[in-house]
Amino acid sequence: MTKTKTKTILITGASAGIGRHVALAFARRGYDLALAARRLESLEALKAQIAEAHPAVRVEIAALDVTQLDSVTAVIQSLAARFGGLDIIMANAGIGDGGGLVGKGDFARDAAVIQTNVLGAMATVDAAVRLFRQQKNGQVVAVASVAAARGVPGAAAYCTSKAAIAMYADAVRAELHHTPIRVTTLYPGYIDTEMNNKMKRRPFLVTVEDGAERIAKLIERGVQEAAVPGWPWGLVMWLLRRMPTSVIAKQAPFAD
Ligand SMILES: NC(=O)c1ccc[n+]([C@@H]2O[C@H](COP(=O)([O-])OP(=O)(O)OC[C@H]3O[C@@H](n4cnc5c(N)ncnc54)[C@H](OP(=O)(O)O)[C@@H]3O)[C@@H](O)[C@H]2O)c1
Repeated sequence: MTKTKTKTILITGASAGIGRHVALAFARRGYDLALAARRLESLEALKAQIAEAHPAVRVEIAALDVTQLDSVTAVIQSLAARFGGLDIIMANAGIGDGGGLVGKGDFARDAAVIQTNVLGAMATVDAAVRLFRQQKNGQVVAVASVAAARGVPGAAAYCTSKAAIAMYADAVRAELHHTPIRVTTLYPGYIDTEMNNKMKRRPFLVTVEDGAERIAKLIERGVQEAAVPGWPWGLVMWLLRRMPTSVIAKQAPFAD
């Protein structure tokens, strides 16, 4: 019997939160893992944890700051070379702490959100598609957010960043329509991580283990777009797009 080829997934922002737990979910599925983030020591610890629980899984790690746009392609190409190719690249690295209310806050922090969540994620998707065009196959995953559905008070830069990366992924999907390369856009709701654990309200919160397992399933199914969890966030996104500003102004569902 011929052995089926082990699949490999590269995840940015794998040192914590969703990225870390999606890595664990794919390790359980027997995938090899290429893990990148700025905190190399957290990646080392995760690699050791996976080696103990899943000795057959190969894990390669690399330091990557996605805001260093020129380095993104080089790091992804180098991880791909170590495995002789990659099957899935998940552009997950992101930050949530913007500068606060527009005109009253810290614009430098809003700019950092755009630099990481938009330019860093675009650079990751661009590098992924470059590799996948060479390979003539692959799946790129963009991590947007339900915050992409509507701009809400207190989170203008974050909502903008997630709407932007979702739109970018949309365009990439159309560009690649006649190729074997697939594009998945995920819109998570509140998943319990450090990004949001100081917020006062986190409606429909799921644990990071639950969220990551759902994300892994959606990626394996190769869906084009999905809210996470689909219920109720698919409906909430639909409603958010249609609510009058007077309601959005009162609810501020994503504001701290
Ligand atoms: N948690 C939620 O409820 C939620 C909801 C919707 C969407 N999301 C999105 O899901 C993604 C992961 O969020 P999370 O909740 O897991 O956040 P988290 O726990 O704060 O983890 C963020 C990860 O991104 C990495 N990262 C941040 N800046 C980076 C940079 N410049 N270069 C490389 N890596 C960087 C961090 O690693 P280092 O610090 O080691 O670099 C860390 O591994 C983000 O894109 C976020 O916007 C989260």
